[in-house]
Amino acid sequence: MTTTFDFTGRTALLTGAASGLGLAMARAFVGAGAKTVLFDLDEDGVRVAADALNADHPGQVTALVGSITDPAAVAAACEAAVAFGGRLDVVMNNAGISGNGPSLDLDEATWRRGIDINLNGAFFVAQAAGRIMAEQGGGSIVNTASMYGVVAAPERAAYCAAKAGVVALTKVLAIEWADRNIRVNAIAPGYVRTALTETLAAQGRLDLDALNARVPAGRLGTPEEIASASLFLASDASAYVTGQTLVADGGWSSYSYL
Ligand SMILES: NC(=O)c1ccc[n+]([C@@H]2O[C@H](COP(=O)([O-])OP(=O)(O)OC[C@H]3O[C@@H](n4cnc5c(N)ncnc54)[C@H](O)[C@@H]3O)[C@@H](O)[C@H]2O)c1
Repeated sequence: MTTTFDFTGRTALLTGAASGLGLAMARAFVGAGAKTVLFDLDEDGVRVAADALNADHPGQVTALVGSITDPAAVAAACEAAVAFGGRLDVVMNNAGISGNGPSLDLDEATWRRGIDINLNGAFFVAQAAGRIMAEQGGGSIVNTASMYGVVAAPERAAYCAAKAGVVALTKVLAIEWADRNIRVNAIAPGYVRTALTETLAAQGRLDLDALNARVPAGRLGTPEEIASASLFLASDASAYVTGQTLVADGGWSSYSYL
């Protein structure tokens, strides 16, 4: 039985890896022995992240700059990952943006941007990775959805629609590519303590006490907890799991709130 989380000899590409969950995932993959490629729009951020990881694991990490909404840049990143590590075993399709606003006032550009990055970008990354993985004989793709792709909240129309789209995309690609030995799963985080949530709380735009009270676990998640669940989905320990969305939300979506 294979239960290993050892990624020695494997190559992982992570999008949105300059900060937040993607950076925590990158730390987890590098720690598990993977050669790791970070892809992000934030040029400074992604280079700083790669330098920090390479300081502990020399030569294991490289940084690439681009947008997941650009299919050519995404395809080039997948090719660069193969050049760096020899294969493309894992893709953490993680980059995304949040966006809140009343639906009656939502302007076209904001709607389109939310769908373009969170759904179209996720498809372009999965497609480019799938093409390489099909040719090399397999691989594992983990899409970052959200608990808000499984349950809803007001004033998040584009975000919820896009993340629900990612959940559906995960199922479609999983069944389409299962015979190519490519697994496609999704991680759906609940509220996680990141720089963003800390900033919003400090500005009074997010009520952490109210959120903590709403989560059955009584607290927000940590980026490391999302990273470890993602590592499971990417690894051989989940070899017979495909098309699934693993909701890591401290029980939020299971709780029918009074
Ligand atoms: N933080 C949470 O509580 C939470 C909860 C559920 C889901 N998520 C999802 O997790 C993922 C990561 O979120 P996070 O909280 O770490 O956010 P974050 O803002 O800290 O990180 C997102 C990263 O993606 C990059 N990025 C944004 N647009 C990009 C693009 N077009 N191309 C390439 N890179 C791009 C940003 O530069 C940034 O480094 C997102 O998909 C988000 O929807 C986060």
